[in-house]
Amino acid sequence: MSKRRSLWALAAAAVLAMSVLAACGDDDNSSSSDSGGGGGGDKPKVAVLLPDSKSSVRWETVDRPLLQKALETGGVDATITNAEGDKSTQQQQAEQAITNGAKVILLVNLDSGSGAAIAANAKSQGVKVIDYDRLTLDTDANDYYVSFDNTQVGKLQGQGLVDCLGDKKGARIAELNGSPTDNNATLFKNGYDSVLKPKYASGDFVKVDDQSVPDWDNQKALTIFEQMLQKSSNKIDGVLAANDGLGNAAISALKQRKLPQIPVTGQDATLEGIQNIVNGDQCMTVYKAIQKEADAAAGLAVSLAKGETPSVDTVPIDNGTHKVPSVLETPVAVTKDNIDQYFGNPDYPTKEDICAGKVAANCDKLGL
Ligand code: BGC
Repeated sequence: MSKRRSLWALAAAAVLAMSVLAACGDDDNSSSSDSGGGGGGDKPKVAVLLPDSKSSVRWETVDRPLLQKALETGGVDATITNAEGDKSTQQQQAEQAITNGAKVILLVNLDSGSGAAIAANAKSQGVKVIDYDRLTLDTDANDYYVSFDNTQVGKLQGQGLVDCLGDKKGARIAELNGSPTDNNATLFKNGYDSVLKPKYASGDFVKVDDQSVPDWDNQKALTIFEQMLQKSSNKIDGVLAANDGLGNAAISALKQRKLPQIPVTGQDATLEGIQNIVNGDQCMTVYKAIQKEADAAAGLAVSLAKGETPSVDTVPIDNGTHKVPSVLETPVAVTKDNIDQYFGNPDYPTKEDICAGKVAANCDKLGL
């Protein structure tokens, strides 16, 4: 009798154990978004190396969550680290990722030299490298490049400044360029200079200053722009600032000197940038739909990590050594007239955040 009971108990325990196991299996299959260490052991690994959190808020607030989601949805195990502007940290993060078994590295380089070293090391160990947002020059070790048409970003900024200045003949322009070590900064500048140079040549505009901001450092941008104001006796009528952070530095310097608002450009459609537009301190920003960029990069990474050949359309971009198969998304300009056009997109600030607190009154004036 008691023997039979214990047999039943054993059988019941076995059934329970089997159903628990089955449930676990189900769970694993259906919740590919669960990256929690234990369950994801057999998923291919992808590492994302972000550059810093200060040169633009985009990296931590937009790129990180969107990449995390897209990679996990694709069924890979994603690890995202941020080098906080330190090249040797990024190098170590790359090595660590390879040691941990990453099959693909999504790299936002801090400059082409350090990026090329990371890519070469990865290649030597059979790890694929996708340049994310910033192209690494002069290496044969990058497999793909995913970004925006960055010359077009610059053209939108240049045209935006022209539109905001209207007919102001002889307008005095200061250019605050991005980091000289970022290939994107070169492309942005090529873009806006293609619009501004003819204006300088015709005398419509006068270039009063033109400086690069090391590492896109917003603090350094403030100092540089203060010096520009000092040198020009405050006679600046428009600022071509290469992103919202640099634009905000110029705006802060103007405010400190109690100078009137002038057209200032930007990029990234950050919360601060859009609020500056609503308040009339900034004339435009460039919105880059980062969701598309993250999805395209994640799609490539997932295929490569699974050992498949990606089936996306690419364009060849010359990095000085080879033609890198590339996916380039399209940027758009945002001014006070079309701020509301992108509400609801996951990579764009919400109306609630933009119009919070002191900005509410100006939102009302714009009908937001
Ligand atoms: C990116 C910009 C960003 C800047 C500073 C560039 O490479 O394309 O979106 O504002 O870096 O981080």
